[in-house]
Amino acid sequence: MSVTILAIESSCDETAASIVVDGKNVKSNVIYSQIELHKLYGGVVPEIASRKHVEKITQVIDTAIQEANVTWDEIDAIAVTYGPGLVGALLVGVSAAKALAFAKNKPLVGVHHIEGHIAANYIENDELKPPFMCLVASGGHSHLVLVKDYNQFEIIGRTRDDAAGEAFDKVARAIGLGYPGGPKIDALSKEGNPKAISFPRANIEDGKYDFSFSGLKSAVLNYLNMCEMKNIEINKADVAASFQQAVIEVLTDNAIKAAKENNCTSIALAGGVASNTSLRENMKKEAEKNGLNFYHPSSIFCTDNAAMIGVAGYYEYINGTRHGWDLNAVPNLKIGERQ
Ligand code: KG4
Ligand code: ZN
Repeated sequence: MSVTILAIESSCDETAASIVVDGKNVKSNVIYSQIELHKLYGGVVPEIASRKHVEKITQVIDTAIQEANVTWDEIDAIAVTYGPGLVGALLVGVSAAKALAFAKNKPLVGVHHIEGHIAANYIENDELKPPFMCLVASGGHSHLVLVKDYNQFEIIGRTRDDAAGEAFDKVARAIGLGYPGGPKIDALSKEGNPKAISFPRANIEDGKYDFSFSGLKSAVLNYLNMCEMKNIEINKADVAASFQQAVIEVLTDNAIKAAKENNCTSIALAGGVASNTSLRENMKKEAEKNGLNFYHPSSIFCTDNAAMIGVAGYYEYINGTRHGWDLNAVPNLKIGERQ
């Protein structure tokens, strides 16, 4: 018997819905991105995000059902992101999912956003199965997660300060590239020299798999100030490439070390930063050197989407997870934690 899930995601600035069959077959993947709205402010404005979700959610869900060409009878359950994320934004998706589950008499399955990012890897990589090491790098998170099973996770490394995506966004803003910075730095770096400027790589003594990006971010800002004071012309492409190189080296080194020391044979990427071309290239090269299989989702499944929630929701559903009408948004939900 196949399982068809309607998945809803609204944790940040994407209003998204998707129909996923058997945790793999993505029948539709509708994403309404609010990026244009938030660009004006250089980052996501929570109140604006919530209001736009309210405006768009019904239309996005309807489109996902239409594009997948399924009827309500064929939908077995409704999966929704309930954390972590912006509380007002999450509440819109959770309320919509609860209302539909109640009205259509379908089971409700709450999903962890980051577990969704990790699950995006199963969509196109048939051979990937737990256990494996996953580097989750997004706008709000930088974690090394040991995926022990489809529903079992252990965080073995984390950022001490900024998330990787946050560092990309802040540096992009400092060199005048605008929001979101990741894709812009990725593109501009191709024209720059990653060895032009030597930026620091943080080494954390008491957490061998942990990350820190705030020192690197300050080093970039100091470099820019120094150039301005001395009237030195700034080569933005070199700054972008050198900064990006520092981030991807730290991410890659920690991920490879974590995979090897935890006896994993495979390593995967997840989250918005997983679409970074240099990170993928570097990770692929280092994984090959160390005899590890390497996987990542396509870019459309790396940044926020509901298909990944449909995949993670499938594994929750077959594991028996069912939420009640008291399901609430949990802005700081921990990986592996269940409500
Ligand atoms: O996973 P995501 O869509 O949202 C969160 O859950 O945070 O990640 C968004 C983050 C942003 O910080 C964005 O700048 C970054 O992912 N990002 C990238 C790239 N594409 C998106 N960072 C580096 N290189 C990219 N190509
Ligand atoms: Zn995300």
